[in-house]
Amino acid sequence: MCGIVGAVAERPITEILIEGLKRLEYRGYDSAGVALLDASGAISCIKREGKVESLVQAVKDQSPTGTTGIAHTRWATHGVPSERNAHPHQSGNRFSVVHNGIIENHQELRDSLTADDGYVFSSDTDTEVIVHLIHKLSADYPDLRSTVFAATQKLVGAYGMVVSDSESPSELVVARSGSPLVIGYGLGEHFVASDQLALLPVTRRFAVLEEGDVAQITKEAVNIIDATGEPVRRSIEESDITADAGGKAGYKHYMLKEIFEQPEAIRRTLQDRLIEGKVADNAFGNGSLKLFKNIKHVQIVACGTSYNAGMVARYWIEQHVGISCSVEIASEFRYRESFVHKDSLLVTLSQSGETADTLAALRLAKSLGYSASLTICNVETSSLVRESDLVYLMKAGPEIGVASTKAFTVQLAALLLLSKALCEAKKINQDFCAESAQALTSLPAQMERAFSLEQPIKELAEQFADKQHALFLGRGDQYPVAMEGALKLKEISYIHAEAYAAGELKHGPLALIDAEMPVVVVAPDNDLLDKLKSNIAEVRARGSVMYVFADSDDQFESEPGLDVVNMAHANHLIAPILFIIPLQFLSYYVALVKGTDVDQPRNLAKSVTVE
Ligand code: G6P
Repeated sequence: MCGIVGAVAERPITEILIEGLKRLEYRGYDSAGVALLDASGAISCIKREGKVESLVQAVKDQSPTGTTGIAHTRWATHGVPSERNAHPHQSGNRFSVVHNGIIENHQELRDSLTADDGYVFSSDTDTEVIVHLIHKLSADYPDLRSTVFAATQKLVGAYGMVVSDSESPSELVVARSGSPLVIGYGLGEHFVASDQLALLPVTRRFAVLEEGDVAQITKEAVNIIDATGEPVRRSIEESDITADAGGKAGYKHYMLKEIFEQPEAIRRTLQDRLIEGKVADNAFGNGSLKLFKNIKHVQIVACGTSYNAGMVARYWIEQHVGISCSVEIASEFRYRESFVHKDSLLVTLSQSGETADTLAALRLAKSLGYSASLTICNVETSSLVRESDLVYLMKAGPEIGVASTKAFTVQLAALLLLSKALCEAKKINQDFCAESAQALTSLPAQMERAFSLEQPIKELAEQFADKQHALFLGRGDQYPVAMEGALKLKEISYIHAEAYAAGELKHGPLALIDAEMPVVVVAPDNDLLDKLKSNIAEVRARGSVMYVFADSDDQFESEPGLDVVNMAHANHLIAPILFIIPLQFLSYYVALVKGTDVDQPRNLAKSVTVE
């Protein structure tokens, strides 16, 4: 979603802002803009619809200079993607603002700023009310920070914002509520961004702003006040993410790089957490084992790919831990009155840790009587990590491709480990504890073997190029894998793809089957294989073209209309983690054939920080 970069320095900052925007491109956006102030307070504001590249061209043509500035990539919410709706927005040829989030009372503010104060709006955005409000309030307050603080008191909704004032060109003021911002500390220069990745070329020292913080940033200092207006300090941490973490390392796309990073990501994630076959005491946070002993229900809440990971975990937790587990989409969970079981653990799953619905679900759950909240998350500085009682940090490394790959498999490894931790804490099911330890330890090497499927799948992908629809089938814990395979295909190839539990075929989707509807089946050699074979026969009998992903040489044979792709036999516990790999390759290569924007598919965002 939207990205923010800002800087106050001695040196010209245009390049720093543009490089920052490029590093945030992965988040998904549809326009970009920059506003620079020189020492005399002259403003240069340039905005373009479309990619940062168009902005770069315009910046080259106009060669603006400045030592204080703000920049933004916008993902449209209020108002179509266009130059006039792009940020920064301005007021009185004095104030400029970039904003992530949504101002919910924007209409009411717009009406009063227009009718009572005579402001003329030049965009359809909710953001523009912020800058006119700041302009209006500036007459009553002595400095920019107190003006911005006063403005935030009138805003309802979510914001991460950065404000500049041409009458005070050596400072920026930033404010956070519901949308993350980090301050970057340099030598005689300071920065702000919505994601530290944007600033890694210029600093590795960051402080994360807390909810309600408002900060003044100058070359020399960062002065923060909290939600009550009191001065505060936020700790400055050294980032361990390398500056080239955002690079493609020779791969054509981030997505392909991230597919191949999966074994290493899983090794890192299990390191120090699975020791000599046992889950380390505090692998899921201080006191987790003691707490797990009494847990009788697990409620998982997540969105998108993370939700699909949660769906797999339900099979593991109910079967192996023997307690109930529910999984719900966060945007549904947060708006209904759900039943809270006694001794329940709330688990949020999130790559980014900033997904607005998942975060809102966690905040809601805090008032509902859960025993504790655990997040399995990939970003240490994220809101979910900061607000959860227990944390399992995924260590997948930055995931840049919008279509999630390594976050999914790392989440699954963490969830299998969670099932084992619950069993160990309860002193039950030693067989599962031993088998899962062995399976997890062998997982990275098995994933590496599964990469040999890349070439055959690449060839097979051609056959999807002219298709409009595809159906994915699975049973048991492979049904969510089929869901994730379908999600991957629709996200990046724009082919409409649906997943069905194979046993449900006769209740509707069979009516759709013909030669134009490829059917993809995830078919490991497990207890449900015979049932699945009957489902496959039903589809075959109706003239469908099928692609079966299997792990046993003697169960299926390729024939006209039926392509079988075999991989090495997988232990049933980790089969869901291995079977997603061919489906990731499939969606990637179909997208390549179709020529879509693999890493930044249209209309989608990496981190969905608005509802
Ligand atoms: C967006 C991303 C998906 C991701 C989902 C949940 O839709 O494009 O890849 O699965 O958000 O994100 P989270 O960061 O909470 O896992």
